Amino acid sequence: MGRFNSIWYRLDVIADNPNYPIDLDEEWPLPAGRWLRFGPTSKCWHTIAHRLQFSKRNTALRLANVSRETMLIESLPIGTKQLNVEARRWILRKIYDLASEYFSLTLQGKVRSSLLLIDAFLPEPKSVSLSPIKENLHLGGVCMALVNEHYLKLKAGYLFPEISRRIQAFTDADPGVEIIRLGIGDVTQPLPPAVIDSFHQAVSEMGKPETFRGYGPEQGYQFLIDLILANDYEARSVHLESDEIFVSDGSKCDSGNIQEIFAVDNIIAVADPAYPVYVDTNVMAGRTGKADAQGRYHGLYYMPCTEANEFLPELPDRKVDIIYLCFPNNPTGVVAKPQVLKAWVDYALENQATILFDGAYEAYITEEHIPHSIYEIPGAKECAIEFRSFSKTAGFTGTRCAYTVVPKGLVAQTASGEPVSINQLWNRRHTTKFNGVSYPVQVAAASVYSDAGKAQVRQLIRYYMENAGIIRETLTAAGFTVYGGVNAPYIWMKTSSGMSSWEFFDQLLAEAHVVGTPGSGFGPSGEGYFRLSAFGSREKTEEAVERIRNRISP
Ligand SMILES: Cc1ncc(COP(=O)(O)O)c(C=O)c1O
Repeated sequence: MGRFNSIWYRLDVIADNPNYPIDLDEEWPLPAGRWLRFGPTSKCWHTIAHRLQFSKRNTALRLANVSRETMLIESLPIGTKQLNVEARRWILRKIYDLASEYFSLTLQGKVRSSLLLIDAFLPEPKSVSLSPIKENLHLGGVCMALVNEHYLKLKAGYLFPEISRRIQAFTDADPGVEIIRLGIGDVTQPLPPAVIDSFHQAVSEMGKPETFRGYGPEQGYQFLIDLILANDYEARSVHLESDEIFVSDGSKCDSGNIQEIFAVDNIIAVADPAYPVYVDTNVMAGRTGKADAQGRYHGLYYMPCTEANEFLPELPDRKVDIIYLCFPNNPTGVVAKPQVLKAWVDYALENQATILFDGAYEAYITEEHIPHSIYEIPGAKECAIEFRSFSKTAGFTGTRCAYTVVPKGLVAQTASGEPVSINQLWNRRHTTKFNGVSYPVQVAAASVYSDAGKAQVRQLIRYYMENAGIIRETLTAAGFTVYGGVNAPYIWMKTSSGMSSWEFFDQLLAEAHVVGTPGSGFGPSGEGYFRLSAFGSREKTEEAVERIRNRISP
């Protein structure tokens, strides 16, 4: 009996089955009880394995491992038993069909508890039905490394590089114009003096043998964690423990990386529009199909946030597993009242879902009775992870310090139903892939909680929020429809009479020389909107809104 040799083959198979008319690229995740077909793009066994793993949790079977000689099919002991059997039979039949049609394989199947091991003795392939993919996979007889093809589903560029490209093209054509940027959500004011003093002092400590520090605890120094617990939580009657706080170098990384510890077949709910990191990291991880023309990825559960629902995502009409929430919201600037957050916590507890709560703009809440932390809602410690950042609070966008709260009461489960502590899993991930925030940065972050630090930070936030007020009021008076800017440093404005977000971007750039962020960059429901940020200097903010008022009609 021959063996499959080392060349990779393109396996062009369409195993159409009228009972299972699903094309994975079109419909994902698979509805329960229906199965996939291999499309003409199935390149090799590796790809087939990958595709079978797309099966939704309750579809109960996945191809766990495929070498060129062995296929290991793992039956997951959850979901309906009936479905497991049917699924197993169907997949097996497909594999037998494929194997015999294309490779004249001899398959030997053995059932061992929930594992079905198939030893495939692979002969030389028939030349007619298989074509070696020399041109793109094969180099000098050796297979090239395969890329993570999920990255190729990502829409062309991340929003901000596209904005930079358009600004560059505009300034290349007209170098003399002074452009005011109210686009990217970066701060402009320097670090508060208390922060700078502490930073200097800690840097000096690093220069003396007796106070030098090397690696610190990956989870953060205790002095900073204690201050976080006391000021950000105890002060709001939320009791958390030290080992529930994970200090990090940013909420972008944490809110992007957190999905890694959850299974790929979870159903993810995202607000639309949303901070792009939530969607893109799930695309990269393979939790979605391709994006449609509006940029909606198959397989994600979108929660449109529109004028009709006051930009508040509505509770899903079905079970989802992971929910991204961001309050105060980027980009819409809305906040969630206690009853809104309570409804989310209740939904999550009832549906055993996990909420990923991004509170990066918490410090901008000005109105009373708005929760600053999701843990102010009873039950949230059993269903929510919270991200906080010093970036927008204290001007740390370039200094990098944030933290993530993963309560020990938060539990998820394995496919076979075993409970797993999310805190332990995140700790494992964090300690393996992260080596801690530098000592001077943590000392600088700690100073944000000193009396002087608190006063200076309050002043900084007041400054930006006054900008927000100026943008809001000037544009409203000029006839624009404007949201946000009261509890958040973002103003969410409607574009002029039916313009698309990018058309409005181009008009604003060309005529007012002001840069904002097109709403469609945050999701399909952001189309027709535009985000202005309050992080500019006072002078530039005033100048920008004057230009918009004088040169752009609502
Ligand atoms: C909603 C949201 N979360 C997180 C971040 C990133 O924060 P950090 O600077 O801590 O990475 C941003 C930055 O713009 C944001 O808008």
